Amino acid sequence: MPRFQQQVFANATEVGSATADSIVATALSSVKHQGRFSIALSGGSTPKAAYSLMAAEPLLGRMPWNQTRLFFGDERLYPHDHPDSNCNMATSAMISKVPIPSENVFPIMTDHEDPEKCAEWYEDILKTQFKRRTDDFPVFDLVLLGIGPDGHTASLFPGTPAPKEVKKWVTWCDPNSVNPAIKPPVKRVTITPPLIWNAAQVFVLATGAEKKPMLEKIFCENEPENAPVSRLLRQCKGEVTFFLDKAALG
Ligand code: 6PG
Repeated sequence: MPRFQQQVFANATEVGSATADSIVATALSSVKHQGRFSIALSGGSTPKAAYSLMAAEPLLGRMPWNQTRLFFGDERLYPHDHPDSNCNMATSAMISKVPIPSENVFPIMTDHEDPEKCAEWYEDILKTQFKRRTDDFPVFDLVLLGIGPDGHTASLFPGTPAPKEVKKWVTWCDPNSVNPAIKPPVKRVTITPPLIWNAAQVFVLATGAEKKPMLEKIFCENEPENAPVSRLLRQCKGEVTFFLDKAALG
């Protein structure tokens, strides 16, 4: 099983800075070797600091925006101007402030009441962009993920069918069907495990004491089965690097 890389920092600010630096370094390497960089952005709050740093010098000028394609790993079924929309978070923190061609940004459509339709639509977008045969999963150069205290990543919530979807590229999830406490209480669209497994690199961001119990399970080598997200990430073909602060490691 691939061991997880860990980068541990004093606080969330340093995690954000290291994450931003590493995303830009990965982008430059991808462009150097293959002429372009495709990334699946994470939602939630943790990545916001890194996105903001990428929208400011010196990283703003270093990032190869013209050769970059920004996708989303998951999205809440809100309008894109809703405060809890992942697209809204990434747009206000970064996308609206950087010179990326608009045709290189691929938000997940949320304006259909049927989440299945939104998932199918995004799968079609990915199939067009990655020009793959239908049975050949795409390879993102980088997938950014967060971790929920319940052990979800992207919007693959334990106990729902989403983490078990290994044929589709994109699926949907209703986390409140298994856990009414999940916030925000809304259905989601998410990339499926095979797209995470196929990524050349995966960065997992986790800060704060509330993530400590789940991280202990993830890093507990002899009980990986305890943490669904650990099972998922241990199947990654690419390198998995955790960007953590000391509070999350305890
Ligand atoms: C989402 C995210 C989700 C997030 C985790 C951690 O849409 O909510 O994609 O997987 O990364 O819930 O969220 P925080 O970064 O806010 O702790």
